[in-house]
Amino acid sequence: MLSSVEAQGVSVFSKVEFCLTETRKRLYLVITVSLAITTIMFFCHKKIHLSITPAVKKNLCRGIPARNTITPLKDKRTFIIAPYFDNRQNNMTRVIAIVHHKEVKELYCWFCHPSSGEIYISKAEINVHSDRFDFPYGATDLRCLEPGAWEPHYVSIHWSLSGDPDQLPLFEIRNRDREGPLVNFTVCISTMFGGYNNVLQFVQSMEMYKILGVDRVMIYKNSCSPLMEKVLDFYIAEGIVEIIPWPIDSYLSVASRWHHSVDPKDIGYYGQITALNDCIYRNMYRSRYLLMNDIDEIILPVKYRDWNTMMQNLQMQHPKAAAFSFENHIFPKNVFSLNDPFNISSWRTVPGVNILQHILREPDRKNIINPFKMIVDPRKVVQTSVHSVLQTFGDSVHVSMDVALVYHCRIPLQPQLPRKSLINDTTLWSYNVTLVRNVSKVLRQIGL
Ligand SMILES: *[C@@H]1O[C@H](CO)[C@@H](O)[C@H](O)[C@H]1NC(C)=O
Ligand SMILES: *[C@@H]1O[C@H](CO)[C@@H](O)[C@H](O)[C@H]1NC(C)=O
Ligand SMILES: *[C@@H]1O[C@H](CO)[C@@H](O)[C@H](O)[C@H]1NC(C)=O
Ligand SMILES: *[C@@H]1O[C@H](CO)[C@@H](O)[C@H](O)[C@H]1NC(C)=O
Ligand SMILES: *[C@@H]1O[C@H](CO)[C@@H](O)[C@H](O)[C@H]1NC(C)=O
Ligand SMILES: *[C@@H]1O[C@H](CO)[C@@H](O)[C@H](O)[C@H]1NC(C)=O
Repeated sequence: MLSSVEAQGVSVFSKVEFCLTETRKRLYLVITVSLAITTIMFFCHKKIHLSITPAVKKNLCRGIPARNTITPLKDKRTFIIAPYFDNRQNNMTRVIAIVHHKEVKELYCWFCHPSSGEIYISKAEINVHSDRFDFPYGATDLRCLEPGAWEPHYVSIHWSLSGDPDQLPLFEIRNRDREGPLVNFTVCISTMFGGYNNVLQFVQSMEMYKILGVDRVMIYKNSCSPLMEKVLDFYIAEGIVEIIPWPIDSYLSVASRWHHSVDPKDIGYYGQITALNDCIYRNMYRSRYLLMNDIDEIILPVKYRDWNTMMQNLQMQHPKAAAFSFENHIFPKNVFSLNDPFNISSWRTVPGVNILQHILREPDRKNIINPFKMIVDPRKVVQTSVHSVLQTFGDSVHVSMDVALVYHCRIPLQPQLPRKSLINDTTLWSYNVTLVRNVSKVLRQIGL
């Protein structure tokens, strides 16, 4: 235990806190006087240096290694996803977490020096994302300034300045070492849940993503059917799909509707926003672009043949953009095309929707803006929500419908509309030859 340091810790800490705030103020406000800042930071670091000499401890950084995607702290109000190194403004560890917005008031990063075992404690700035929709728990960034003198590789999160470091969960700080190949396009599928079994639509989406140029699909998986499990195994073996286990409902009650007032649970949509933010940081140095859409959505180019050509053009027109937003358009899954050339016999036994049969699109609603889905440059994004980015180092660009749209095949939003009010949009059909061939091949290989 750190009882010997405890008493000292508190008094030392009041200075720490003062110093941190001062440093930040200076960092943000007096950008020009860099020399002064360096001096102040050096001065501060000297003071916050709360080190614990490992006289008795030979086995260093001995906390309990976190092995799961979601790690609850013992307060049962804080859930850690993962810490990421972020040096885009200053050297900080940004911990993606879920916290109770009112009950969690104080958290600390305990950094452990891997070779000396020295522990350096830094107060976390707790930033609950603004898109919480009134649920008590929300996606949260815990921002901790790192020690100036050395680069931490491990961190523990604790609500107190005192405690036994051996009993705290220990996390490796990701994104410090950035080697590894950079791919162009990763799709972030924020949550697969509810025993998901829409196999045919999943395979069609995957094959469309491949046709459009995807390198990787990262799926935050809560639950799916045994058949879907088999399909995922196929794509994992192919090297396209990466699964992040997401057992959020083991810890919190999850809403299936958008706002706490209509579904009073702990957190919205299986913690979708937290998963999306984790996907941004997890892929920050692994993928040039991230597509933030659901599995029943395809960001479908209209003017170009694939994502690479489209993004090269869009990026050239908007070099400072951090995010490109695409309009969501509904293709109701209960309305079939009149002449139905893609009712393919070998697909009929596969559970799920055949998107090639749904090319009738709902018109825009009066006075309602279609929600967006995005392609982002993760290195320019700080915080994201589902339909927009919340904090970036760059612009957000609205991409018009003649360039691309989000093809979204689902239950209708305007079920009362007569068929003749729907718009015939056969953009998807222009990929029919390759799509049909490749979907059939995959279904055969999976044994369906
Ligand atoms: C971050 O750390 C690196 C390496 O220790 C150092 O060179 C750099 O100046 C630091 N940046 C800031 C903004 O403190
Ligand atoms: C990514 O895109 C660039 C530029 O368009 C291209 O030259 C490169 O081959 C692509 N990389 C991969 C891994 O597909
Ligand atoms: C579709 O299948 C063909 C032949 O089976 C293959 O060569 C091609 O790479 C596949 N296309 C994509 C985008 O995966
Ligand atoms: C939609 O367009 C396609 C191709 O142009 C055509 O075959 C079809 O009959 C049209 N109408 C409907 C309602 O599917
Ligand atoms: C597809 O074709 C089969 C056999 O002709 C038919 O029974 C079925 O109703 C068709 N499905 C749709 C959605 O039209
Ligand atoms: C399928 O794609 C081919 C090649 O792009 C095109 O010629 C054909 O018209 C498409 N079929 C339909 C029904 O749109």
